[in-house]
Amino acid sequence: NEASSREAYRASVLHSIGNPTHMGIENSFQYFEDGLLVIKDGHIEALGHYRELSEQLPTSLNVIDLRGQLILPGFIDTHIHYPQTRIIGAYGDQLLDWLNNYTFPEEMRFSDVDYASEVAIEFFDQLLMNGTTTALVFGTVHPESVDVFFQEAEKRNLRMIGGKVLMDRHAPEALSDTPETGYQDSKNLIEKWHNKGRLHYAVTPRFAPTCSDEQLAMAGKLLAEYPDVYLHTHLSENKQEIAWVKELFPESKNYLDVYDQHGLVKPRAVFAHGVHLCDEQCHRMAEAGAAVAFCPTSNLFLGSGLFPLEKVEKIGVRVGIGTDIGAGTTFSMIHTMGEAYKVMQMQSCKLHPIKSLYQATLGGAEALYLSDKIGNFIPGKEADFVVIDPEATELMKTRMEHCKNIEEKLFVLTTLGDDRAVSQTYSLGRRVYSRDN
Ligand code: GUN
Ligand code: ZN
Repeated sequence: NEASSREAYRASVLHSIGNPTHMGIENSFQYFEDGLLVIKDGHIEALGHYRELSEQLPTSLNVIDLRGQLILPGFIDTHIHYPQTRIIGAYGDQLLDWLNNYTFPEEMRFSDVDYASEVAIEFFDQLLMNGTTTALVFGTVHPESVDVFFQEAEKRNLRMIGGKVLMDRHAPEALSDTPETGYQDSKNLIEKWHNKGRLHYAVTPRFAPTCSDEQLAMAGKLLAEYPDVYLHTHLSENKQEIAWVKELFPESKNYLDVYDQHGLVKPRAVFAHGVHLCDEQCHRMAEAGAAVAFCPTSNLFLGSGLFPLEKVEKIGVRVGIGTDIGAGTTFSMIHTMGEAYKVMQMQSCKLHPIKSLYQATLGGAEALYLSDKIGNFIPGKEADFVVIDPEATELMKTRMEHCKNIEEKLFVLTTLGDDRAVSQTYSLGRRVYSRDN
């Protein structure tokens, strides 16, 4: 029996407590300028004003003084590909050519488990130095790529979701499985990793164009056998892709319907992109409790289009934010929030910084059905948090001095900030990254 441990962090503390769209900006967050976050055995015990809370606690309590810093919940990246870490910034192509010219050749390297392991380590180092503590992650078609992913996540004690790519057509031979091997490999990985500690499995058909009907049916079979595993795929990202899906599945009503016909549209299903969804598809996702991952840097980089956040949300679809590395151009959720703002500007919509904080933390947790465990600092939740240095650069320092309130500071952080602004990252109350060593 380990002795129980309790620590407290004194800093400014900000977190979301609900969706601003439903409860209004003011009611949707809490901010403690001089706050105290108390952690017991890796979980949140209390949060409050330093003056009030410190009086109620024993004087022997270990208070870590982080005044001048801002504590936020750990970021939740709802769509990312770890095997694409080394192809960020591949020039010149939109989705389908980008896959053939850059992505598939790189993913072939993951047949070498040592290579996969090296990239997995790089990947987690990047996530943590950017303050991301939970992510929904694509592997490659190789089951070993998922083993090394979960091994690295386990070492760092992170709440992580991942899965093996299913793809049995329109891809290089070396990256193709079959409905049967894909099913069996996924099943083995589920048995090995799903709900082991903080890990979860996602059945991961790449996208409709690379999956036969038989393969999508097998994905549906896995979900029926394991009702609490995730479903992770791509949807309606690029106009050419959508036209191709229409050709390949002429009997389907729309792109989402291809997945729906196989039982893949359900709670814990996360569809990346959804840039070009019609209202009908949004209504279906909302009704099913499925989520969409908004990936602004990827949508801009591949020229995919502008995600209609306001419409999708109004219809009631759960929305998370994803970096979508390697089509996305940054691991930083802070920077991604800034790019989400610009995508909304292009549609004459104002994305409030408190709203984008919600999407990047609690909203992501809700999209993943994990908001009972992570996403904010409600007592009892897991202590995954990030310590932000709002004055990380000279420019941020001088700019922050002009800010009137926390909303402005947060907005400037998303405009100017990235991994330089992350000074420490904590998982389950334990420090897993520090900028200064
Ligand atoms: N659609 C199918 N595969 C991919 C991928 O790897 N990245 C993106 N952005 N879209 C996809
Ligand atoms: Zn993707």
